[in-house]
Amino acid sequence: MLGKINLPPLLNTLSMVLDFTSTGLNHHHNRVAYISSAMASLMDLPRQERYDLYCAASIHDIGATSFHEKAALGRFHVLDADAHSQKGYELLKDIGNFENIAKIILHHHDYWEHQRERNALTRLSDIIHLADRLEILLTEDYILHQRKSSMDQLNAYFGTMFRPELKEVLHELAGRESFWLDLASPYVEDLSLRMISPDIVESSCEYTDLKKLFMIFALIIDRKSQFTLHHSRLVASSSVHLASLAGFSPSGIAQIEVAGLLHDLGKLSIPESILEKPGALTAEEYDVIKRHPYHTYHILQRLPGYSQLAEWAAFHHERPNGTGYPFRIGGSDLPLGSRIIAVADVFSALIEDRPYRPGMGRDKIETILTQSAREKALDRDVVDLLFSHYDLFESLREFLDILRY
Ligand SMILES: [Fe+2]
Ligand SMILES: [Fe+2]
Ligand SMILES: [Fe+2]
Repeated sequence: MLGKINLPPLLNTLSMVLDFTSTGLNHHHNRVAYISSAMASLMDLPRQERYDLYCAASIHDIGATSFHEKAALGRFHVLDADAHSQKGYELLKDIGNFENIAKIILHHHDYWEHQRERNALTRLSDIIHLADRLEILLTEDYILHQRKSSMDQLNAYFGTMFRPELKEVLHELAGRESFWLDLASPYVEDLSLRMISPDIVESSCEYTDLKKLFMIFALIIDRKSQFTLHHSRLVASSSVHLASLAGFSPSGIAQIEVAGLLHDLGKLSIPESILEKPGALTAEEYDVIKRHPYHTYHILQRLPGYSQLAEWAAFHHERPNGTGYPFRIGGSDLPLGSRIIAVADVFSALIEDRPYRPGMGRDKIETILTQSAREKALDRDVVDLLFSHYDLFESLREFLDILRY
């Protein structure tokens, strides 16, 4: 089993993968979490509300993951805001302790004047709405020079778009230079966590909820391309079976499952135009692809107790003969967990359809994997394990097909 992990720092970290855009990492979620939590603290909201608010703000746009969808949310008046709010709600609503978080996200673009129902949760949605619209107004210009223009723009919408009583709260915050400097800070991830009290930071997450959350992130990664609709889940389940055949402990098997689910986390930094390209990639495009395990590594390394899991996940394009990327780790430095995920990843990629070819049958896959093992581009023992139980691995793919995720 994986150890317990505190939910706010986990979401603080996972929010970073939601914040990759065509221009890089924009810290949108952590800035919105910072503004929302700063308002909640001035309003002296109860602990449970501040917890729900922080968690919801940290992943509020989880329903919008393509670069195109994210760019559309940068307009002050968002067209069809309900689509991503509804999608975010659907993704999260079945996780045990995420019921409130899902409901807050569902309403985070509702205009205050059109609200049919007003309660403690919709007040939290209203806080995120205001924080969110302030955040998208901010530009690369010096932050303190943007105070007046951004506040002037928001002022026109209290009582229509925004809940009126939030005006005074936001103005009190806006009077502090440090509020703006924090927002523009490169340390905003740390600062947003510091905005909530230590007892909220230390709210732990049940293992079953944690696993569901990781499944959701796997789903989001896989949905970046119609050709990888269940790739991460196939890599995870193949890795679990390979690890169990290799004699991993129950704790090691639990870790490799999560490593498999999240191995392509950094793919959220890659434009869909490259992931979905129907032909061969140019050298420049392939260089862009090469950054995804780098991000997987550094994002997972932020989580306490996840350092081994981060290596297993992020080294899936490293090769025993040292020819992989991006760290060029090989030989005895390449852990067995990484070698297992590498074989599971190549197997899954070959058996799945790709934009430029249909999925392959056993003979072709065996030829390719055996040749790779001979060249020490994949671990020979792990490849042998796969082919000694091939029917089992093939059935995993069929099972995911039947589920039609
Ligand atoms: Fe949104
Ligand atoms: Fe947003
Ligand atoms: Fe990958």
